[in-house]
Amino acid sequence: MFLISGSLSFITGKIMSVAKKEFKKITTHVLQEMKRTGEKISMLTAYDYTMAKIVDAGGIDVILVGDSSSNVMHGHETTLPITLAQMIDHAAAVVRAVDRALVVVDMPFGTYQGNSKEALSSAIKIMKESGGHAVKLEGGKEVKESIERILTAGIPVMGHLGLTPQSIYKFGTYSVRAKEEEEANKLMEDARVLEKSGCFALVLEKVPAVLAEKVAKDLAIPVIGIGAGGGVDGQVLVTHDMMGMTHEFSPRFLRRYLNLYADMTDAVKRYVVDVKSTDFPNINEQY
Ligand code: KIV
Repeated sequence: MFLISGSLSFITGKIMSVAKKEFKKITTHVLQEMKRTGEKISMLTAYDYTMAKIVDAGGIDVILVGDSSSNVMHGHETTLPITLAQMIDHAAAVVRAVDRALVVVDMPFGTYQGNSKEALSSAIKIMKESGGHAVKLEGGKEVKESIERILTAGIPVMGHLGLTPQSIYKFGTYSVRAKEEEEANKLMEDARVLEKSGCFALVLEKVPAVLAEKVAKDLAIPVIGIGAGGGVDGQVLVTHDMMGMTHEFSPRFLRRYLNLYADMTDAVKRYVVDVKSTDFPNINEQY
């Protein structure tokens, strides 16, 4: 399962301690071990083969085929319109690219809420047709029955609490959740329900760092945060955001590692100039 202990690697000239153990393949059990040993879990999104290849090669632990593909890949305003067939298509492409990471696939809106039988058949369809390793769904107590039914088929389930974008029309805004005591208590209660139901991990989105840390300390399963501070067991970001491919979206929690929107736009501009000026192709770029 693992190769060496206390591995070090050179990244951008700095020596960085990246892992306590080097895992060849990430499973849900590896994530639980990371939680136990205090190794932080890294998670990013991917929706296609090429991006998944890059992210997996970079050593990410978990790739989330997020329903954020509804916004990022399909240009919808919310995550609601993406279909099961579209999610399966994205996930199958990601799975074909990945050697090491655990691939978690979001169950899209309307495929699991309020009907545990449908939830099970949606989850089975995802696993069968995409080859993904686990599913993720949003909600607390209200989706308990769906989670338990999916688990009967041996499909690992990741929970998602806090800001749950599939409920945007209920909440009305994408602002920080559970700032008030009542909502914070409900979130803690829901987190315990998800753990008890058998979820192997939990995403906490856009909640106060103090609350997120409390949840992570309370639960034995890994808690992976996005906009939930550093006191949780791992971090997830949307790859297109952290690479700077998107540029309209700048929440406080987002760290951009590249500015690909500017770099790629500039590359396109230079290509246009080269084509128009007949500089491209040159003598060495033709047969
Ligand atoms: O769909 C998604 O990308 C997500 C992450 C923001 C956690 O659910």
